[in-house]
Amino acid sequence: MAWWDIDPFWPLLIISQLSGFGVVGIMTYWIMEYKKGQFSWGKHDGGTISYHAFMFTLGMVFLFGEAMLLFPVPKRLHLRSHFWRKVMHGCTQSMAIIFSIVGLKAIFLAKKEGGHHEFYSIHSWVGMASAMLFFLQQGVAIFFYVFSKFFGLSKFFGPRFMIRFTSMHTFFGYVLFAMAIASCLTGMDRWIAIFVPDYSLRPTPTLLGDIYALMMMLYGVVVTYLTTRPPTLKKKKSTHHKKLANGDRGEEEKGLQPEKEDKQLNDNDHELTPMKKGDAENNI
Ligand code: HEM
Repeated sequence: MAWWDIDPFWPLLIISQLSGFGVVGIMTYWIMEYKKGQFSWGKHDGGTISYHAFMFTLGMVFLFGEAMLLFPVPKRLHLRSHFWRKVMHGCTQSMAIIFSIVGLKAIFLAKKEGGHHEFYSIHSWVGMASAMLFFLQQGVAIFFYVFSKFFGLSKFFGPRFMIRFTSMHTFFGYVLFAMAIASCLTGMDRWIAIFVPDYSLRPTPTLLGDIYALMMMLYGVVVTYLTTRPPTLKKKKSTHHKKLANGDRGEEEKGLQPEKEDKQLNDNDHELTPMKKGDAENNI
């Protein structure tokens, strides 16, 4: 077996967890070590804004990413209950919503405490757009996946609508994940500009900020790869035999060919595979 045939899923999952816990750890350390007021709420000592940075890092990036991984990881472990994966995904996203609400409340309170102007930076606009889209996405998902089932409204939408809705939900999930990371990176830049006197001298807090940014990008890339993993390329068993069976069809038949889509291994098949009528209720 060649090295490129090794399944990269588990090593990449470990990298994702190291980088994910890493960004949350760096943010916590930064606040405890360098931030005036550390974590304090509404005490006018500069500590309220710490909740903003911490809650958004934890909620809209780390928990959001972990919620995305809750589909492929149990599947790889052969825990086949799609229902429980959806429940766990929903619970993790609910925690992300709560943390994000606290993060947003914290920045408005911190600005009020300091008497600062509002919405004068790229970060504030990118952050606000991301937060609004995030709340919209979560609200609509709760309506269609929870309330409509609970109150028997799902019969009005039908399985075909739910399949379309799920694919939109998945698409906007990736868009939001990228937007949340962009918000945190611009946020860290603002944070350093405000709280560290001279960035160009590279004091330790700025180096930590740089590592935070790089680790967060790594987390984003790896989580996205793990949840959208393309089919691996596999060498045809015997080009010679195939040639004999089909007759020589020329150069394009030779060499590498995408592996036939494997239902067991395609982590998003619950969302993308067209379903028969009866299957829909079990799969959405
Ligand atoms: C998804 C993540 C984030 C979102 C949605 C977000 C959202 C926002 C919003 C809407 C504001 C402007 C509030 C106003 O002007 O009234 C703001 C300000 C601020 N944020 Fe964030 N933020 C995020 C992450 C972060 C992170 C991780 C940090 C620090 C590392 C941070 C640091 C700041 C700072 C210092 C300000 C005040 C300065 C300014 O308005 O530019 N933010 N954020």
